[in-house]
Amino acid sequence: MPTFEPVFIPDDYFRELRKEEIFADPARPLEIDMGCGDGSFLIAMAEQHPDRDFLGVERLAGRVAKVAKKIAAAGLGNARVLRLESAYTVGWLLPTGRVSRLHLLCPDPWPKKKHHARRIMVIEEFQNGLLRVLQPQGEFLFKTDDAPYFEVGTEAWDALPGFERLEWPVEAFYYAQTDFERQWLRQGKSMNRARWRKR
Ligand SMILES: C[S@@+](CC[C@H](N)C(=O)[O-])C[C@H]1O[C@@H](n2cnc3c(N)ncnc32)[C@H](O)[C@@H]1O
Repeated sequence: MPTFEPVFIPDDYFRELRKEEIFADPARPLEIDMGCGDGSFLIAMAEQHPDRDFLGVERLAGRVAKVAKKIAAAGLGNARVLRLESAYTVGWLLPTGRVSRLHLLCPDPWPKKKHHARRIMVIEEFQNGLLRVLQPQGEFLFKTDDAPYFEVGTEAWDALPGFERLEWPVEAFYYAQTDFERQWLRQGKSMNRARWRKR
């Protein structure tokens, strides 16, 4: 059974967290699932990797409650969920140099031109924050079905001097499908994936 509440509520939203405030053991790798939706990826990864800790970040209260219920039902002590906005969480809250991998899977594509600035891949607070929170050699993994967003997002990240692009063959390592990914694949859409390492 979990030794703590599945929903993580910080004591203070206005200072950087220490890793051990989220999960007891500061030495274990920390992975972040940004916009974790229904939590299916988060839970599958936590089950597959009992030696790592997984924090989901999601802004919708109903989804957070469902994810928390699933974590408790699965009896996982290495998964938690935080209700907060992604760019703020990465920009200001997560501990510096302590994140081993951050997953951004099927983020909202904001297809209308007037909304393009809302795409999280191009928000500077998110880009700079990710450089801060990742440990050396830490990784950022991004998947989307939306080809225009993929093109814009990868172009922006390939140009960031703090990151280098890595190959990501499908069978390289275990990687659970997300709820949205399964929906898109059922509809015959294809997924795009990209992976960067902090230099
Ligand atoms: C398209 S869904 C994808 C969910 C999940 N990653 C998946 O692939 O199944 C996007 C999720 O990100 C959440 N989200 C969107 N913008 C966010 C933000 N700025 N901060 C936190 N969560 C956000 C949405 O509420 C939604 O649950």
